[in-house]
Amino acid sequence: MKTKVKKAILPAAGLGTRFLPATKASPKEMLPIVDKPLIQYAVEESISCGIEEFIIITGKHKRAIEDHFDSAFELEEKLKVTGKSKLLKEINKWNQIKFAYIRQRAALGLGHAILCAEPFVRDEPFAVILSDDIIDPEYPLLKEMLKIYAEKKCPVIALEEVPISEVNRYGVIDGVQEGRVYKIKNLIEKPSPEKAPSNLAIIGRYILTPEIFEHLARQKPGAGGEIQLTDALKELVRKTPIYGYLIRGKRYDVGDKLGYLEATVDLALKNDELSKDFKDFLIKKIKTLS
Ligand code: UTP
Repeated sequence: MKTKVKKAILPAAGLGTRFLPATKASPKEMLPIVDKPLIQYAVEESISCGIEEFIIITGKHKRAIEDHFDSAFELEEKLKVTGKSKLLKEINKWNQIKFAYIRQRAALGLGHAILCAEPFVRDEPFAVILSDDIIDPEYPLLKEMLKIYAEKKCPVIALEEVPISEVNRYGVIDGVQEGRVYKIKNLIEKPSPEKAPSNLAIIGRYILTPEIFEHLARQKPGAGGEIQLTDALKELVRKTPIYGYLIRGKRYDVGDKLGYLEATVDLALKNDELSKDFKDFLIKKIKTLS
């Protein structure tokens, strides 16, 4: 098996029900935070970690994702003629990057979405990046996970401590702690707070190896009637070590309305063009609230 992680799977075929009606006919992954769609944050984060190829899992109403990373002749001409070279460079920067798209015919779950990418991955380790988790770039989570993978050559999954009352929204692990790294003993998808072995929730960054596919292929629908990645990992951990890595910085759950608004505010405050005016606006706004 090759050892360098060069490919990333970006599952983007979910129905996005928490964002209806916005996501009825438009992809959730194309919702913007400030001026970039969610999926662009995921792609940029991956490129900064050395990922070279993207396998995007799409579904119905997701064509805008392909268009976003494609060339746009008419728009490019217009930007050239009007001398908007900065914007032209921004929309053209995907030309050198390899994208492949696979349709998941029905939204049968995250595990099934990843299984759809098997023919494109073959014998390589790969990353799985969920666009609805945006990670604070000050603490590059994926880069740290890749370092652990390079050392251990075993799957690595990202973890975050969440309030125990929220564990039923996540996959949760039981493991043995070594600093920020956990050697995983067991995983449970969406446990009740009473049954959860910890409050260590699995979040949307994974480094996986191709062994996962045979376990995904065997899965029957689990929590929520979906084919769950957590259930396949639960089988795999009986055969091979899996490590968890506890995130250091902030994660925004932008698949959720409140998380989306928090990310919008924080990233607008970090945006060079907007930060000053936006901060002034927020300060005035807060005064009217108090
Ligand atoms: P979510 O659990 O957030 O589901 O999926 P969702 O459908 O996108 O959103 P809600 O919960 O209904 O609001 C996590 C990730 O897995 C992808 C989603 O696109 C998202 O990136 N996914 C989920 C698939 O690609 N296929 C699926 O069948 C399910």
